[in-house]
Amino acid sequence: MFKNLTIRKRIMAILIIVYVVSLVVAVIGGWIVLKQDTIRESEEKATILLASMKAARTYLKKVLRPRLQEILPGQFVLEGMSSTFMSIGVSKFVQEKHPEYIYKVAAPNPLNRNNLSDEFEQSVIESFSKGGVKEWKGFMEKRGKTFYSVALPIVAEAKCLRCHGDPNDTYPSLLARYGNKSGYGWNAGSVVGGLFVYVPADIAIAQAKKKLLYFTIGFSVFFLIVLVVVDRILIGSVVSPIENFVRVADDISKGRLDREFTVTTNDEMKAIADAFTRMKVSLAKAMDILKER
Ligand code: HEC
Repeated sequence: MFKNLTIRKRIMAILIIVYVVSLVVAVIGGWIVLKQDTIRESEEKATILLASMKAARTYLKKVLRPRLQEILPGQFVLEGMSSTFMSIGVSKFVQEKHPEYIYKVAAPNPLNRNNLSDEFEQSVIESFSKGGVKEWKGFMEKRGKTFYSVALPIVAEAKCLRCHGDPNDTYPSLLARYGNKSGYGWNAGSVVGGLFVYVPADIAIAQAKKKLLYFTIGFSVFFLIVLVVVDRILIGSVVSPIENFVRVADDISKGRLDREFTVTTNDEMKAIADAFTRMKVSLAKAMDILKER
């Protein structure tokens, strides 16, 4: 390969190929690693948000609601008895500081229309209903932005039907607030919705891209310096001495035996120069002998 190129161009061509190949490999490898980092980071954030919301729900179910029911038998206090209402309320305070962190209790047949599942949530809930899927996680687009989402199914139990069963049997205050059209008729054992959290992934993805760009620039600058240094070394220690050899050898071949091969280094070039000089001396001697005859 590159047989018709000069030594200098050949070495430069090889170095450029090494640069391109190693850059491609490094960028692809870097992207895979950074992408995994982004996924891990987003997953961690989403899992923590979801765990906090679940903890709030559990607190309500295990501590607050039983206590309220004890004090106010037969009454329904929305703020302290609905884990959904309460956890959404908590998430609103989280959003005051982190507006892009979204928590949603989505259902296709909700009491509160704000909890109505959108197209994406609908498809995830359907995959939960079909069975087999215990958790959904991954990147998704929402309002033109990329989010990392984690979702868990919500399965109705018999006790849920006190409020989500027959609207005629539910608390009057609940009926007054949500009406009797939507959010009822659920069946125990079936998937009725999903807990969804969304954490912003745009920033992490942009940062990963920026890191790759900086790496590419740094790597290219480094290679450019290598290229220039190698070129200087090649010119000084190989190309210039060879050009000098060519000129001197040309002169000697034309009879100018006073010309000298000069090299400043003490390497292979010096060995060639010494060999040429010995040849020149032998040639001069041979010519002298011929002249004497
Ligand atoms: C004491 C009444 C009550 C009980 C019991 C109850 N819920 Fe609810 N649930 C509500 C209310 C009220 C809302 C609406 C909250 C809001 O405004 O966001 C709600 C909302 C929901 C939502 C969000 C969709 C919607 O309807 O707005 C889901 C999902 C849900 N509940 C699931 C359950 C499950 C599962 C159970 C049983 C483990 C259960 N609920 C038991 C009162 C109840």
